[in-house]
Amino acid sequence: MSLRLGDTAPNFQASTTIGDIDFYNYLGNSWGILFSHPADYTPVCTTELGRTALLQEEFAKRNTKVLALSVDPLDKHLGWINDINETQNCSVGFPIIADDDRKVSLQYDFIHPKASATATVRSLVIIGPDKTVKLIITYPASTGRNFAEVLRVLDSLQLTANYSVATPANWKEGEDVIVVPSISTEDAQKKFPKGLKVVKPYLRYTPQPNK
Ligand code: BEZ
Repeated sequence: MSLRLGDTAPNFQASTTIGDIDFYNYLGNSWGILFSHPADYTPVCTTELGRTALLQEEFAKRNTKVLALSVDPLDKHLGWINDINETQNCSVGFPIIADDDRKVSLQYDFIHPKASATATVRSLVIIGPDKTVKLIITYPASTGRNFAEVLRVLDSLQLTANYSVATPANWKEGEDVIVVPSISTEDAQKKFPKGLKVVKPYLRYTPQPNK
């Protein structure tokens, strides 16, 4: 099944390294990040899961729960976590889903048969508290993802959800943001008391509202 932005994220029950979960119950009212990796005991995946573990506080600050997934079985995940913790100086606390029957991978379109008939690609889905899909990125097996970019997108998505602003190219935390087109300039002047810079009627900047 293909998954697109705005779709409802499919719910599922799964066996994970922290026990059996129901995805929706596990997320509760949090944001969610579900990401797939090709296989356990592989080098790039080891660094990705280590980096995610080291950023656990950053995800918690953003009210976001992270789950990893591959089609390897639970005993393999559990053994591999020891290696991740040892080599990446971390403590993996987030669940890794054992999707041996590929049920979740198929629901989330994590298997791209022309890349690999069996292994999952490096996909990452951000899910909002409303359980809709907000972001999908897919990388090839040979390229590790940039988790600083994942946090940056999460910040952007949360600014849009909470303040009706968008973020420009290469935006970084603390820089000016863009007023979404659906808000009139007159309303924007009231809504953004920190100031409004109107470059064009459709290009209006304001300081980051939550700073
Ligand atoms: C890795 O995680 O290192 C990897 C996995 C599959 C193919 C290539 C690299």
